[in-house]
Amino acid sequence: MPAHNTTTGYGAVSKALHWAIAALVLTMIPLGLVAVEWRYDTSDALATKALLFSIHKTLGVAVFFLALVRIGWMLGQPRPVPLRPERRLETALAEGVHWLLYVSLVAVPLSGWVQHAAAAGFAPIWWPFAQTLPFVPRSADVAAAAGAVHATFTKLLMAALALHVAGALKHHLVDRDGTLARMLPGRLASAATAPVPVQRRALAPVLGALVVYGLVGGAVVTLAQGGGDTDARPGVALPATPVAATSSSWIVESGELTFTVRQMGSPVTGRFARFDADIAFEETPDADGRHGFVTVAIPIASMTLGSVTEQARGPEFFDAESHPAARFAADIVAAEKGGGEGGEAGGEEGGYRAQGTLALAGAEVPVALPFTLDIVDGVATASGTVTVDRRDFGMGESYPDEATVGFSVEIGVSLTARRGGAGEGA
Ligand code: HEM
Ligand code: HEM
Repeated sequence: MPAHNTTTGYGAVSKALHWAIAALVLTMIPLGLVAVEWRYDTSDALATKALLFSIHKTLGVAVFFLALVRIGWMLGQPRPVPLRPERRLETALAEGVHWLLYVSLVAVPLSGWVQHAAAAGFAPIWWPFAQTLPFVPRSADVAAAAGAVHATFTKLLMAALALHVAGALKHHLVDRDGTLARMLPGRLASAATAPVPVQRRALAPVLGALVVYGLVGGAVVTLAQGGGDTDARPGVALPATPVAATSSSWIVESGELTFTVRQMGSPVTGRFARFDADIAFEETPDADGRHGFVTVAIPIASMTLGSVTEQARGPEFFDAESHPAARFAADIVAAEKGGGEGGEAGGEEGGYRAQGTLALAGAEVPVALPFTLDIVDGVATASGTVTVDRRDFGMGESYPDEATVGFSVEIGVSLTARRGGAGEGA
């Protein structure tokens, strides 16, 4: 069988790529559907879910590259002419569906890959290069939008595939022509073996497929951004309501509150999209050495942790239903003053410590958060990290070792705040 296509038949390369990709895609679809539905209420179930997703993603990335090879090959080849060209509508429909499939083969894996790169972590792709993508930020917003696009594009792919297979079967069973036979392996590609000039391709079906994808993708992204619940707007701290608008109170303008835990050996970072912070701070300490205080209220519903968000919110971990908010209340002292754990910023210029209590998931644990502070023109930039142990909060008791979920959780906070003197706080 010749490697190249002719105007009447498919060559070995086109056939091999067609059936290899078909087999992969027909595996990927049920795998994706099953992986999404897989329960994860025990450590074993979670490990299986992660395994299903790792297989799904790893094969999916392979489909992406095979699809690029396939499209490149197709563009340089003659295309076998339709066997029933007189049926113009049917031919145009078949052609349009082919293009929907070609676009799907790129758009579906790419959207999944963008979701993975933006969400970070859970269920790694086994190709060594594939965890991140250029231009894709780590962002729960981007991950959610890409996930919605991926789920929708897979439905488009399934619809196109159903039409495609129905068409192939109709040719075979009703029209009884050679359309299916000429795509099957092992058959002669055509009587003519000499290469023939590349045919002109009609532009309309290509544009049609791209327009369908553009419109559907655009609509999904718009809905994902605008229509989402208001709890899920990551990276933006709610403006704090100062306890009293004095010259020492500060209004948080932006901020990020993250936590990082090792999941199956790889670090995964979760975020709280919202937190309310009351901050009072003076450069000069009072008689007790206090520079001020901070109180932070954190709605657990605004937390995301990749694809295990629901599980993290559940009773085993954050237990959002019984304890819908976490609260950190602390005094701000200079880092070098006083004892206590975690004094990394101690002794440094601009080093402070928020020393207090973190109430989370029904437990109250003393926490000292070292942070650096930089005040320029009335705008403060602060950032710090502290490591806590999930077991102190009674979290993940049915995960008694670190194989699935690590014990240490690194909390990271960074924010900018404006001095909210009297008159400015309105
Ligand atoms: C995910 C799975 C599949 C994908 C992505 C896919 C994609 C495609 C594409 C893009 C073409 C057009 C090739 C060209 O450029 O000329 C094609 C042709 C074809 N496919 Fe599929 N296909 C899939 C599965 C199947 C299955 C399951 C069947 C059989 C039931 C099938 C039967 C055919 C036939 C017969 C042709 C040749 C049509 C013709 O000669 O005009 N395909 N396929
Ligand atoms: C041809 C390639 C692919 C196909 C056919 C495919 C198909 C699917 C399907 C059918 C689902 C279930 C959607 C739902 O109803 O919720 C799914 C989910 C998912 N896929 Fe893929 N996928 C492909 C490639 C990829 C790749 C390359 C990645 C990542 C690198 C990926 C990551 C995911 C993720 C993370 C989900 C869960 C989405 C969610 O959060 O609901 N997929 N995929």
